Amino acid sequence: MSQVKIAAGMGAGEMVVSKVRKGFGVGPLRKEVLCDCSFTLERGRLTVLVGPSGCGKTTLVNALAGYETPDQGTVTIDGKPVHGPGPDRLVVFQETALFPWMTTFENVSYGPRVQRATSDDEISRQTMKLLEVVGLEDFKDKYPAQLSGGMQRRAELVRAMINQPKVMFMDEPFRGLDAMTRSLMQEYYVRLFEEHRGTNLFVTSELEEAIFLADRLVLLTNRPARVKRIIEVCLERPRQFHMLTSRAYLDCKREALELLHEEAMKSFAAGAVNAADFLEACSKMGQDQAQPRTTSCGQDR
Ligand SMILES: Nc1ncnc2c1ncn2[C@@H]1O[C@H](COP(=O)(O)OP(=O)(O)OP(=O)(O)O)[C@@H](O)[C@H]1O
Ligand SMILES: [Mg+2]
Repeated sequence: MSQVKIAAGMGAGEMVVSKVRKGFGVGPLRKEVLCDCSFTLERGRLTVLVGPSGCGKTTLVNALAGYETPDQGTVTIDGKPVHGPGPDRLVVFQETALFPWMTTFENVSYGPRVQRATSDDEISRQTMKLLEVVGLEDFKDKYPAQLSGGMQRRAELVRAMINQPKVMFMDEPFRGLDAMTRSLMQEYYVRLFEEHRGTNLFVTSELEEAIFLADRLVLLTNRPARVKRIIEVCLERPRQFHMLTSRAYLDCKREALELLHEEAMKSFAAGAVNAADFLEACSKMGQDQAQPRTTSCGQDR
């Protein structure tokens, strides 16, 4: 994978989430989803939000991106309150958002072409650089339907990144990909992050993926989601898959698993319906712990 420097853009932003509450519905149908969530997305760092399915991760991302307004609490970016979406923040969703009638090149260069902030030549140069980083330079003239799922995800990644938002949100962008494509995507994404060092929030329910990518983990409880613990991930960058067998990785995973297990037990004790979901997520997270796995690069991790 080539090491291409991406020009600095708007710069990385800092977001502060303070006592955010959000629920949906009224009366007996009211569902509390977020409860007093507070954490900071530190400038130029990769924060990973980990929580079980349905706990409120997307709702939280939507509140940060400005698509949802919190019922209580505040969200700020560089000290200014978030009142709606803005070009300083971009979300990459799980679903593809590539324009089917545009080629890979046209899709990736779309944002800068619309903004007209720089020359066509510079846009082409930046687009080709990014396509090269994610190994899509030979597919620049193909349409989304001619790309594999993994290629589409890579195109999607660089299509967001070329806009150099202050904060990028990745809402389970690799969910549903097969294991090998997923680990390749993690590698592409982590390299892009390490080159660019924007502020990133990545959402996942996979603990191994979370630790591999993160500078810090924000662990959420079951719904209504609260911040259970913030864990600093003490792994060096650039990240390499072999780090997933290191002592630091295993300690981090153990701490996170213990907290998630504790949470699952609480849910059972309270008779919560989604406790089963929670345990399923935990067991998924605990799978293949300490079992070296061969990655697509042929390294043991
Ligand atoms: N606009 C809405 N109206 C009503 N309920 C909603 C709305 N958005 C989310 N919810 C509910 O809030 C809860 C949390 O949903 P959310 O999508 O945030 O969870 P999640 O952690 O992202 O789930 P997943 O892991 O499946 O992506 C769910 O029970 C969902 O049904
Ligand atoms: Mg979600």
